[in-house]
Amino acid sequence: MKKIKIIACIFFVTVTFQYCSKNETNSTAETAAAIPVLPAIPFNYITTYPAHIQNALQLNDNTPADNAITNDGAALGRVLFYDKQLSKNNKVSCGSCHQQQFGFDDTARLSKGFDGGPTDRTSMSLLNLRFYKSGKMFWDERAASVEKQALQPIQNKVEMGLTLAELETKVKALNYYPALFQKAFGSTQIDSVLIAKAIAQFERSIVTYQSKYDKVKQGLAVFTTAEAQGEQLFLTAAGPNACATCHTPPMFLNSQTPPFGLADANDAGINNQNRFKSGSLRNVANSKSLFHNGSVVSLQAMLTAGAPGSGLTPIPAHSVAPPDVQNLLAFLNTLTDNTILTEEKFASPFK
Ligand code: HEC
Ligand code: HEC
Repeated sequence: MKKIKIIACIFFVTVTFQYCSKNETNSTAETAAAIPVLPAIPFNYITTYPAHIQNALQLNDNTPADNAITNDGAALGRVLFYDKQLSKNNKVSCGSCHQQQFGFDDTARLSKGFDGGPTDRTSMSLLNLRFYKSGKMFWDERAASVEKQALQPIQNKVEMGLTLAELETKVKALNYYPALFQKAFGSTQIDSVLIAKAIAQFERSIVTYQSKYDKVKQGLAVFTTAEAQGEQLFLTAAGPNACATCHTPPMFLNSQTPPFGLADANDAGINNQNRFKSGSLRNVANSKSLFHNGSVVSLQAMLTAGAPGSGLTPIPAHSVAPPDVQNLLAFLNTLTDNTILTEEKFASPFK
């Protein structure tokens, strides 16, 4: 009797264990094949911006004639941007190093790729890249357009680690994509050119226009005295070397002549000329790894470099007189748009 009881018990335990472990396997499989949750009617990605932004867009928009933003195109781009299946071991997506809550940037000085390896340079914010007129992407501008850039991290050995052939095979194997490509491009055909186009549409839709700075420009708010003085310094301080000549309002970027780079013995930048691009300074106040190598930990550190006790050598064109520091900081803080950090249409659809 006792024996039967023990056998029954072992049987019960074994079955329960198998059931549990089977369930676990199932749930892991489910996570791996997570399904994106999208609204029946796509979000609106075609925004009419306030006049001060719309005017700048007209002059600087790097959207090519064959890849205007559509709501279905950007919706597909959003899924691809957040899909970890676009990496070798399904562990990272574009969104891992370009996190919405941090202005589509990373907080780490160097980001971790699919296998944990560090990136060569510090990650870049993707805000307002549509306004970089030349369209050249990366700190050293090695990608000629937003579309060309989009396939680079996927093939990068540290970042996502796939070949384009592997990318196409993986995306084709996921059952939610044909319908999304059909809506975006009118066909269920899937290839790397269309993948890049959709990602670029999504990225170009990520535009900030709801900061205090924008409210002031629309007459809906006023700067404090410190903010107003900071703006004047930004626009005029040091004459031809004013901040605004290189970081031109309203998006605080300028693709014409990136003339400057933080001295770096390990990195020669654009055409080996010790120059680097600077993207939009919108939301930069919250960044903790500034410049191409992330070596500057805050705006305060940047502006006071070279001052007695700072422990840093002055950064050409970036260190200002002590009385100006607080005003510039106050102004740069008005460029932060918190709306974009949580808006659903820019968030991961994989819940
Ligand atoms: C492992 C981290 C990581 C992943 C994953 C990643 N990126 Fe990046 N991204 C970076 C780093 C680091 C840079 C700067 C590299 C450089 O300039 O050499 C960068 C730069 C960029 C830039 C240039 C922005 C500018 O203003 O010039 C764009 C655009 C971009 N990434 C988009 C993407 C897209 C799209 C994906 C997914 C297909 C992606 N990234 C995946 C880390 C990452
Ligand atoms: C001569 C052009 C030029 C001037 C003038 C200039 N900058 Fe810059 N700035 C750049 C470039 C180029 C970079 C990126 C350099 C690098 O990474 O090595 C940069 C980087 C920055 C960064 C870090 C951006 C990031 O994404 O990490 C901030 C913030 C900044 N500048 C603010 C200012 C302020 C404030 C002023 C005025 C006091 C100023 N800049 C003056 C060209 C300029």
